[in-house]
Amino acid sequence: MDVPPEDAADALPCGAPTLDDLPDGLLVADRDARVVVFNAAASRMTGIASGAALGRDFRDVLPLHDAEGRDWWKCLAPYDGLGTRTRHPERPLYLPGGTELLVTAGYRRGRGGRVERFTISLRDALHRARLERDRADLVSTVAHELRSPLTSVKGFTATLLAKWHRFNDDQKRVMLETVNADADRVTRLITELLDVSRIEAGRLEMHRQVVDLPGEIRKVLAGRVAAGDAEDRFRFEARGVLPEMWLDPDKVDQILGNLVENAVRHGAGTVTIMVEPDAHKEGAAVSVRDEGEGIPPEAAQRIFRQFWRGPGGNRRGGTGLGLYIVKGLVEAHGGTITVRRAPGGGAEFRFTVPAGAPDYAT
Ligand SMILES: Nc1ncnc2c1ncn2[C@@H]1O[C@H](COP(=O)(O)OP(=O)(O)OP(=O)(O)O)[C@@H](O)[C@H]1O
Ligand SMILES: [Mg+2]
Repeated sequence: MDVPPEDAADALPCGAPTLDDLPDGLLVADRDARVVVFNAAASRMTGIASGAALGRDFRDVLPLHDAEGRDWWKCLAPYDGLGTRTRHPERPLYLPGGTELLVTAGYRRGRGGRVERFTISLRDALHRARLERDRADLVSTVAHELRSPLTSVKGFTATLLAKWHRFNDDQKRVMLETVNADADRVTRLITELLDVSRIEAGRLEMHRQVVDLPGEIRKVLAGRVAAGDAEDRFRFEARGVLPEMWLDPDKVDQILGNLVENAVRHGAGTVTIMVEPDAHKEGAAVSVRDEGEGIPPEAAQRIFRQFWRGPGGNRRGGTGLGLYIVKGLVEAHGGTITVRRAPGGGAEFRFTVPAGAPDYAT
């Protein structure tokens, strides 16, 4: 293992790093299968104090069994089996109390393949179980979200095809408009899901250029008005002088578009957008505020999660991905986003982005 040179370790505020700093549990057994290392994480995961483990046979300290109840060390026979084995890939195993651990093991062999050291690393299975549950939830939510508009598309087209002559033009138009809107919804959902997967995989590509932030905000608002929103629904205010902002203009539009749409769709009254220099960092702060019911303080963290919708969110046709994506896009710029109650009631989303630099400079 690489240990930093002494003077570097001395410079660390809490002294030289030790195996107890490892987030994973670590057990090392010597050539006689006696435990010589049992770090703090291993103690925490197994409930066995390090002092009680050291010097004992590792098989007694960690009597692991697999899901079928087989004694794992008997199956593996680490000290007697094939002398060419170097490691065992991660697998879930259980302690007698039922605690599940993800276990990886590796050998250090000497002459003739004799085991000199046997190292076992332990990881908490809880975190993985939670991730898997989240994945399963995501899949079922996506399936559900796709199914409702598709059911409507299928229902209306089937009805129209079967009874074309029984409907007048107005009725047909209404049905086709619904089909059209539902098809748009599916497309939008798929676009959002692709964004989500890019954010999760850390694969958001940034194309920075100098962006006139107030100009971008005016453009987004003009787009809303052109699409039918009343002009007096919006108020725009630019304060102070912004530094030269190097941002990804498409992503900025997406951030602004989502926040303004939320304010219109979920909020009420006048929607006020304000941009100003960020007082703490070299950058800009933008707030989007409305006069609706606002976000209850206890939901303030949850709204940035995937698929979170407030009461009535579903009725309003959203999928609950908008703010998750907005947060991902703001963070991709190195910024942060928060929500609070606007001074006059309603929700106020505020994000800050640093001025940034050209892509080649980062
Ligand atoms: N300005 C707002 N006022 C009140 N509630 C809001 C506001 N903005 C968001 N919310 C609440 O937060 C929830 C999540 O918002 P988000 O933008 O993530 O999803 P959505 O708008 O429901 O769907 P999508 O944006 O994916 O179409 C909304 O369903 C709504 O309940
Ligand atoms: Mg939204």
